[in-house]
Parts: sequence; structure tokens; C-alpha cells
Amino acid sequence: MYVIKLDAIGSTNAYLKELTLTSIPQDYTVVVSEHQTNGRGQMGTKWETEAGKNLTVSVFKKILKLNIQEQFYISMCVSLAITETLGKFQIKQLRIKWPNDILSANKKICGILIENIIKNNKMVGSIIGIGLNVNQKFFNDLSQASSLSLLTGVIYSKEEILFEILKQIQFYFDLLESGKKSFIKNKYENQLFRMNKPSTFKLNNDGTLSGIIKGIDNVGKLIIWTEDEILRTFDLKEIKLLY
Ligand code: BTN
Repeated sequence: MYVIKLDAIGSTNAYLKELTLTSIPQDYTVVVSEHQTNGRGQMGTKWETEAGKNLTVSVFKKILKLNIQEQFYISMCVSLAITETLGKFQIKQLRIKWPNDILSANKKICGILIENIIKNNKMVGSIIGIGLNVNQKFFNDLSQASSLSLLTGVIYSKEEILFEILKQIQFYFDLLESGKKSFIKNKYENQLFRMNKPSTFKLNNDGTLSGIIKGIDNVGKLIIWTEDEILRTFDLKEIKLLY
């Protein structure tokens, strides 16, 4: 494992992405920064955190055996690696909000941004960006955000948590590479937030939808049993869970 530690950078994901423009980095190249000035979130959002308090890290993983349709397995492996890690640090009520937000007690404590590198229609690698709120105590305007410290009162060593995350990421990618796909999918669905519970969703084309999350399909789309008793699948751009 090759770890690059920085004081400040625009975005650790962007840093790794730039590296991949010239060559394929070593497997498990890790970039961790105390501060990001241009942190990126899902769907073009910004990821802003207090300098020095949280984990902002990206990992480059070579992807050899996965085809493009299976890329959601990367999301599942990383989400499971994070919940496994946080469980070891006694964080309770952990859930994965589809596709890959990590919640504790219904509050978001970790966001994941996965950017896959595809060449000639083949998966080559994945840049796995993780933003874990660790010791930050105040979140302006983010009523649904929390941190490990806010939840437990403990001040954590970011290094210790990062070490465990990296260990768990390797564990889940080893499982994936050894073909344990249904094990991974089952475990992911078992931790899915609001699985089998009546929920309301905001649809992209305005309007709302009531239904029950039944799991994910083979490409990672969310399966919802709707009020009119049909199963429908949605991708990230189409739907947002209201909670
Ligand atoms: C989300 O919107 O929930 C995803 C947030 C991902 C943030 C992490 S922090 C480290 C890495 N570098 C980035 O610019 N973003 C990811």
C-alpha cells in the first residue's frame, strides 16, 4: 500500500484522477488530506468539512474482473467496509442509505464518491472517495449530518479509523475478486436504510412516490414496491428518499 499524506488539496479524488491520466497507479494507492478546498460530492455537489477534523481520503483500486454492468459491486464493497469499520468503533444503528451514504441513528456520517476509470469499454480501476465525519462538532445548515464524535462524545484518532477502513476495503475486494457476489449483495441489502418499510420518495420529474424498498437489482438500481402494487426500479438520477 502506498499512502500520500497531504495538508491541503482541492479534492483527493481529483488528485488521484489526475494521476490516472498519465499511468495506472499502484493498487491501493491512498491519498489522504487534512483539508480539501474543493471537495466533491455525489451528483455534482460540494463536500465541505472543517479542516483537520474529518477523514477525507481517496483510494485507487485496480479493477480487473468486473464488467461495466457490475460496477455497483464497488459501491457495495466500500459501503460494507465502512459499516464494518464503524461497528468496530462501537458506532450504533448503522445503515446504508442507497446508494452509498452511511447513516447512524438516521444521520449521515459518511459520504462516498466512486469514480470509475473505464478504457475501451472495460473497467480498469476505481477511485474511491470517502468523506467520514469524525471529530467535527458543528454542521451549519446540515440538519441531517452528524459525526462520530457528536454521536458518542469520544474524540477519535483519524489514523486508527483510516487503518481499519483500508483493512476492510481490502477484505471486501478480496471477497469480490473471489466471486462472492451474492454474499456481498445480501449483506448490503441487509443493511439498507428503510428496507421493507413504507417510505416516500421524491421523483426527479417532480411529484412524490410512496412505496417500499425491496432491494437492488443486478446493476444496483433501487427496487421499489409501489402503492399500485408493481415493482419499479430507479437509478440515482431519478429518485430521492425523503426521510
Ligand atoms: C457524497 O456526496 O455523499 C459523497 C462525498 C464524498 C466526499 C469525499 S472526501 C474525499 C473524496 N474527495 C472528494 O473530493 N470527495 C470525496
